[in-house]
Amino acid sequence: MYSPSSIPNAYKVAALPGEGIGTEVVPASLTILQKIAEIKSFAVKINYGLIGQPALEELGDYFPEVTAQLCQGADGIVFGAVTKGGLLELRKRFDFFANLRPVKVFPSLIDKSSLKPEKIAGIDILFVRELVSGIYFGASGRDENDRNPYGYHTMLYRDREIKRIARIALQKAQQRRGLLTVAHKENALPCLPWTRLVEEEAQDFPDVVVEGMLVDNLAMQLVINPQHFDVIVAGNLFGDILSDLGGALVGSIGLLGSASLNSVGFGIYEAIHGTAPAIAGKGIANPLGTIASVIMMLEQWGELDAAESLQQAEARILERGYRTADLHPQGQEILVNTEQLVDLFLQELS
Ligand code: IPM
Ligand code: MG
Repeated sequence: MYSPSSIPNAYKVAALPGEGIGTEVVPASLTILQKIAEIKSFAVKINYGLIGQPALEELGDYFPEVTAQLCQGADGIVFGAVTKGGLLELRKRFDFFANLRPVKVFPSLIDKSSLKPEKIAGIDILFVRELVSGIYFGASGRDENDRNPYGYHTMLYRDREIKRIARIALQKAQQRRGLLTVAHKENALPCLPWTRLVEEEAQDFPDVVVEGMLVDNLAMQLVINPQHFDVIVAGNLFGDILSDLGGALVGSIGLLGSASLNSVGFGIYEAIHGTAPAIAGKGIANPLGTIASVIMMLEQWGELDAAESLQQAEARILERGYRTADLHPQGQEILVNTEQLVDLFLQELS
C-alpha cells in the first residue's frame, strides 16, 4: 500500500487531462472524488497540469519539466488521454512499470458485450502489463539502404524486467483464483523466454498455477472462453493489444480503468480508452473508465470505504438503466451525457 507523503489524510492529486475526451472525463471524475472525500472526511488537493498537444503548444514540450515536478510531489496522478507524445515519457520518468487493467463484467451490462451473455457471466480478469520496456522503448529509427528506406523498433527485455512484472502478477494471482497465464510468442521470438522466467519466480508462489500461452492463441481464447482466465501477464505490446479486447468483452472500452504503479506504489490512474476525437467536445464521453481508475487510486491509498461507496454508486446507477452513448441505450434504458452521469453520482452519494 502507498502511504501519502504529505499530511495524513490530505492527498495531493496531479490532474493531467491531456487531449480530446481526456479534458472532459478527468474533471468529471475529480468532481466525484471531491464529493466522496468530503463525505468520508479526508481532504484532496487537486492541481492541474499540461501534457500532450496543449503542453507542446504552451510550453514547447509534450511532457514539460513543470508537469514532471507537479507529478513528483503528488500522491497520485489522474490522467486523461493524449494522441501522441507525453505519456510514454511520463510512465518512464517515474518507472510506472506495473500496469493493472481489471476487466470485470457488470451484471446490468451483460447484454452490451460483443459475446453471448452466458460466455461472459462472471468474468473477472486482471491484465498485468509491463509498461516501461519492450518494443515501445527499444532502439528504433528510420534509415535507408541503397535508397531503400526502412524502419525498426526493437523488442528488448532484460530478464530482470520480466521477473519484476512476473512477481506483481504472481502476487495478484495468489490473492485471486491462483491462475496466471503468460502471454508470449516463443515460437517466433525464442530469445524472450517469458514462460521460463515467470516459472522461475513462481517457485516462491507454490499456490499459483502458471500456464504459458502463445499470444495469438491467447487472443482467440479470450473470445472463445474468457471465463477461463484469472490473471494474464504480458509485455508492453501484447498487453496493450490484449487489454483492448477486454473492452469488447464488457461492452465498452469506456468502462475500463487502470493503475500503473512503480516499486514504491506511487502511480498514474487512467482509463484505457484514448482521446476519442469523434466524440470529443460534445460532452457525451463516458467518465466511468476514469472513475474506475480513481477507485483504484483510493484502494491504493487505503481509502477502502470511499472506494467501495463509489463502486456501489456506480452499480446502482447502471442498474437503474442510465447509459452514456458508447453503451448504445435501448428500450427502457436512459441516455445520459457526462454531466448528467456526474450529477447521478453526486445524488447517489449524498
Ligand atoms: C494505452 C494506449 C497507449 C499505450 C498509447 C496512447 C501510447 O494505447 O494506454 O493502452 O500504447 O500504452
Ligand atoms: Mg492501448
